[in-house]
Amino acid sequence: MQTPAARKAVLVIHKEHQQLSMVITGMQCLVKLLGAGVDVPRPVMFRSMLFYISEYPEKLHHPKEERYLFARLRHRANDLDKTIDELEEQHAQGKARMRDIEHAFTRYELAGESALPVLREMVDEYAAFSANHRRLEEEVILPAARQWLAEEDWKELAEAFGSNRDPFGGIKEADFGRLFAMIVRTIREH
Ligand SMILES: [Fe+2]
Ligand SMILES: [Fe+2]
Repeated sequence: MQTPAARKAVLVIHKEHQQLSMVITGMQCLVKLLGAGVDVPRPVMFRSMLFYISEYPEKLHHPKEERYLFARLRHRANDLDKTIDELEEQHAQGKARMRDIEHAFTRYELAGESALPVLREMVDEYAAFSANHRRLEEEVILPAARQWLAEEDWKELAEAFGSNRDPFGGIKEADFGRLFAMIVRTIREH
């Protein structure tokens, strides 16, 4: 179904995927620069990227997908249920991976270069993991949604993904827009 609500919801999901992908690429660049004798942005930059991912995609994007997209596609077709289970499992796994990367970064700050190879590997693995997750959603879930969702569902989805609510007291989605812009500026400068 290609109504304005469907187009809007799909656009926002794609945009959020692209932003996540850019931030992860930024993390990969940053950990490559660490220890290479280059003047690297302060650790606070890496922590801002971790914060962005754990607060925006993890706490807003993924729950919205589960509630407004996956839940409505369940029981439509067997294969779809399997993919949805896998994607929900990946949402949980992503959180654990973020925690591990944060710990690996702290180890790097405490122990120095000897902790770098593990950190780099974890970030690269997360990048591949997250790219595969987004690809599954874009190539399997969104086409299935076009097939199965009703106009009412699309309207709710567009409303959920287009809103600028304040889900956790103080930090609005617009603030994440500013944080994202700051991350992108830093990536471009290096
Ligand atoms: Fe997802
Ligand atoms: Fe997603």
